[in-house]
Amino acid sequence: MAMPMKWRSCTQAWICVKTFEQPDPDTRMKAKTIGLLKVLVFLLCLLPLVKLGLEILGVAGLSLGANPIEELIHRLGKWGLNFLLITLAVTPLRKLTGQNVLLRFRRMLGLFAFFYVLSHFLVYAGLDQSFDLAVIVEDIIERPYITIGISALVLLLPLALTSTKGMMRRLGRRWQKLHRLVYLIACLGVWHFYWQVKKDILEPSIYISILAVLLGYRLLTHWQKKRSIHIKLQGIKSEHTAHF
Ligand code: HEM
Repeated sequence: MAMPMKWRSCTQAWICVKTFEQPDPDTRMKAKTIGLLKVLVFLLCLLPLVKLGLEILGVAGLSLGANPIEELIHRLGKWGLNFLLITLAVTPLRKLTGQNVLLRFRRMLGLFAFFYVLSHFLVYAGLDQSFDLAVIVEDIIERPYITIGISALVLLLPLALTSTKGMMRRLGRRWQKLHRLVYLIACLGVWHFYWQVKKDILEPSIYISILAVLLGYRLLTHWQKKRSIHIKLQGIKSEHTAHF
């Protein structure tokens, strides 16, 4: 008579993941802290937008100045570029500090870059050009800095669309290859910035220098990795020939 009861409790133990796979308190704490940090980073990324909103509404004497549409285009473009560079800074920072947790924020930062660049384009297309397709196309063809800007945005689109974990799994190695486009996009972004500046090239030059450091770091680590593989292979080869 006692058998069925025993069997039932056993079965429950086997099928109930929670019974056996209780995460230890440390892991749970870590997941909770990361969750909180993600919320904090999300709110920080929204700050530029909140400030723009307050300026548009004229809260507490804030304003976008004499040419609000131009100012809006400039500020959104600048934040798009800032977030692109911040996203690119995640990997070098992780390697230099050993803080793997930084990787948890990279997708969010990349999506914010897309969000600000898309808003930059929409303000230009909607408020500046009244969604007049003919004028926008003419601008894209005739103004090289706009051609470069739209190319960057078009390339950014598949990256944003494939940023989910599901797409990452589905694309496998191709995902990584596709997402390397971000280097080209950042180059186009700073080029676009540099080209539209009329006189003072100091600010775009600073952006170009930051991008050069970020890409230079990647080239250096890539070259070091290749070199150490080459040295290891040489070692194995000479060991092998000495053996025979
Ligand atoms: C990855 C894509 C893009 C990035 C990173 C970007 C970034 C920028 C930056 C940093 C500025 C200068 C802001 C300043 O001077 O304070 C700017 C200006 C501008 N961008 Fe973009 N942009 C992008 C795409 C686009 C696209 C797709 C368009 C339109 C088709 C566009 C249209 C403009 C316009 C009209 C200006 C202002 C130029 C002026 O005042 O003469 N941008 N952008």
